[in-house]
Amino acid sequence: MCGIVGYIGSREASAVVVGGLKKLEYRGYDSAGMAVLAQNGHIELRRDVGKLSNLQATLATSPLAGHIGIGHTRWATHGAPSERNAHPHVSMNGRVVVVHNGIVENFATLRDELEAEGVVFESDTDTEVIVQMIERYLEAGEALETAVRHTLQQLKGANAVVVMSQDRPDTLLCARLGNAGGITLGLGQDEMFIASDIPAILEYTRQMIFLENRQIARLTRHSYEITDLDGRSVLPEIHQISWDPVSAAKGEYKHFMQKEIHEQPQSLIDTVRGRVDFENGRVHLPEMNLTPELAQRVQKLIIIACGTSYYSGLAGKFMFESIARLPTEVAYASEFRYYDPIVDAGTAVLAITQSGETADTLAACELAKQKGATLWSIVNAVGSQATRISHGYIPMQAGPEIGVASTKAFTTSLVDQYMLACALGELRGTLSPQRLRQLVDDLAQLPYLAGQVLEHDEEYEALAGLFFKAKNFLYLGRGINYAVAREGALKLKEISYIHAEGYPAGEMKHGPIALIDETMPVVCLATQDGLYDKMISQIQQAKARDGIVLAVATEGDEAIRVEADHVLYVPATPPLLSPVVNTIPLQLFAYYVAVRLGADVDQPRNLAKSVTVE
Ligand code: M6R
Repeated sequence: MCGIVGYIGSREASAVVVGGLKKLEYRGYDSAGMAVLAQNGHIELRRDVGKLSNLQATLATSPLAGHIGIGHTRWATHGAPSERNAHPHVSMNGRVVVVHNGIVENFATLRDELEAEGVVFESDTDTEVIVQMIERYLEAGEALETAVRHTLQQLKGANAVVVMSQDRPDTLLCARLGNAGGITLGLGQDEMFIASDIPAILEYTRQMIFLENRQIARLTRHSYEITDLDGRSVLPEIHQISWDPVSAAKGEYKHFMQKEIHEQPQSLIDTVRGRVDFENGRVHLPEMNLTPELAQRVQKLIIIACGTSYYSGLAGKFMFESIARLPTEVAYASEFRYYDPIVDAGTAVLAITQSGETADTLAACELAKQKGATLWSIVNAVGSQATRISHGYIPMQAGPEIGVASTKAFTTSLVDQYMLACALGELRGTLSPQRLRQLVDDLAQLPYLAGQVLEHDEEYEALAGLFFKAKNFLYLGRGINYAVAREGALKLKEISYIHAEGYPAGEMKHGPIALIDETMPVVCLATQDGLYDKMISQIQQAKARDGIVLAVATEGDEAIRVEADHVLYVPATPPLLSPVVNTIPLQLFAYYVAVRLGADVDQPRNLAKSVTVE
C-alpha cells in the first residue's frame, strides 16, 4: 500500500523518482507527489490528486530540478484523497519533508501534543506528525539522524518512512517499523536508491538491501549505513536480484495483467526448474529446510492467506491431504487471529502471499509462531518479510507481478503447494515410489498445457463480447475446482466491477438457485474428473431455471455441448493440477470483459497490490 521512491546521486532526481513511482503505481493511485532539494537549498514540492499521470503533467509545466528527491503514490488511509493530504509532507518551517507508508496508530495523541506546542498542521494525515516531530527535534538542536530516531521511537504501528532535510543536503534517511511494506535500498555507483519494491529501481541496480524491522538507513550518494533504532550499527545482507528489468515492463501487451496471464507457461517452467528432478522422480525444496523428523512431527497443516492466495490454499488442501495425508485447514489470515486457533508444536502453518508483505498474513504468521507452530511460506517477492520470519519457504518464481489482479502468482503457488505436498509425502512415507514418480511426471506437461489454453485467447475475447453487459455471474465448482470458481469470480469482480459469486456447486440448490434466471450467466467448472457427472447434474439444474451456462470442459467432451450454452475447452490435466489449467480461461474471460467495459484493468478502483494495513 502506497509506493515510495527516493534517489540521491548525479541524475535528475525527478526522472528517477517519477519513473520508479510509475512502476509502483499498483500500490496506490489516490494521489502522487514528489519533492527535491533544489539548487537554492530549499525543498520544492509538487503534488496532485489521482493518478501519477496528473503529477507528470504538473511536472511537465512546472519541473523540479535537483539531484536528491523523494516521491510517493498514495492509497489513502487517514484523510481523503486530496492535494493537501498527498505526500510528501513538509514540516511547518520547511526544514524537513517526508513520505510514508503505514499507519501511525497514536497520531491523534501526538498531534494534540504538537498543536499544544503551537505546531500548525496542513493536512488530515497521520504522516504529518512524523515530519513535524522531526522538525521540533531539529529546532531543539538535535542532528537529523537523532531527530529521526527520537521521532520513530515514539510512533506506534507499522510504518515505513523516507526523510529528506535541507539541513543535510547530502543525505537521505529511511526506516522501517513493523510490517508496513518493504523498504528496499538500491546500491549504485555513486548513487543510491530507495523503493518500496524492487521493480521501481531494477533498471539502475541489481544490488539491493531489504531493511528489517526497526532499522534506519542513512544514504549519501557514495555510502550507506544501517543502524537499529537505538543507533547500534547493523551489517546488512546484500542481495543480488536476478529479476530481469524487461519482465517488469509491459512490452507489447496492452496491460500488465494480460502480459502476466500469458507469462504463465514460463513462470510454471521457472517454478519447477531446479526443484523437480524428472529423471529420478524427486522434488527438492532447499529453502524449506525439511527433515524426515519434522515432516513426521507435523500432525496438522493450517494454510493462511488472503484473497487470491487464500483460494490457492483452498486448492492446496486437496494436495496436502491426498498426497501427504496431512490434515489441512485453510483460514483467512485476516480472521486467524480472531478465532483462537488451535495451534501447537505439531502444527505447521503455511502462509501463501505474493507480496510477502500483506499485513493480515504477517500478523497471522507472528501469532502462529508465538503459539509454537512451524512457520512455512510460499512467497513471490524476493526478500520480503514473510520469507524472513519463516522457518522454511518456497520462493514462487512467478517473476514480478504488477497487475493488481493476481494471475501468475496464483498458478505458480498452486504448483509450489503440489511440490511441497510431494516432498512431505515422501518424507512422511505416504507415497509409494511409483505414485511419487507419477506425480512428478504429471508436472512435466503442465507448462505446455497452460500454453495450449492461451492459444485460444481470441475465443475468450469473443465470449466477453457476449457477456460484458451482464450484471451478475455465478461461478460453480466442486472438489478442488471449487477454489477455481472462487478465484474466477474474484477476478471478474475486481477488474470489471461486475458482481460475481463463487460457490460450491452442490450448495447451489440450498440457496443461490433462487437467483438463477435468463439473465444470470453460470460459469461451471466441469472438466472430466471424479465429480464430472455431479457437475453435469448442476448444469442441468441451472439450465432448468433458464440460466445461461458457460462450461469449462475437457477437450474432446462433445457431450457437454448438449448441456451448456458455451463451452470453454481446456486440455485434459491430472485432477490435482487441473486448477492451474482451468483458471486460465477464467482469467482471460475476466480480462476481456473488463477491457470491453473500458475498466482500468491494472489499477482497479479502491484496490492496491500489497495491502499493508489491517
Ligand atoms: O500479496 P498477497 O498474496 O498476500 O495478497 C493477497 C491479496 O491481497 C491478493 O491476492 C488480492 O486478493 C488480489 N487483488 C487478487 O487479485
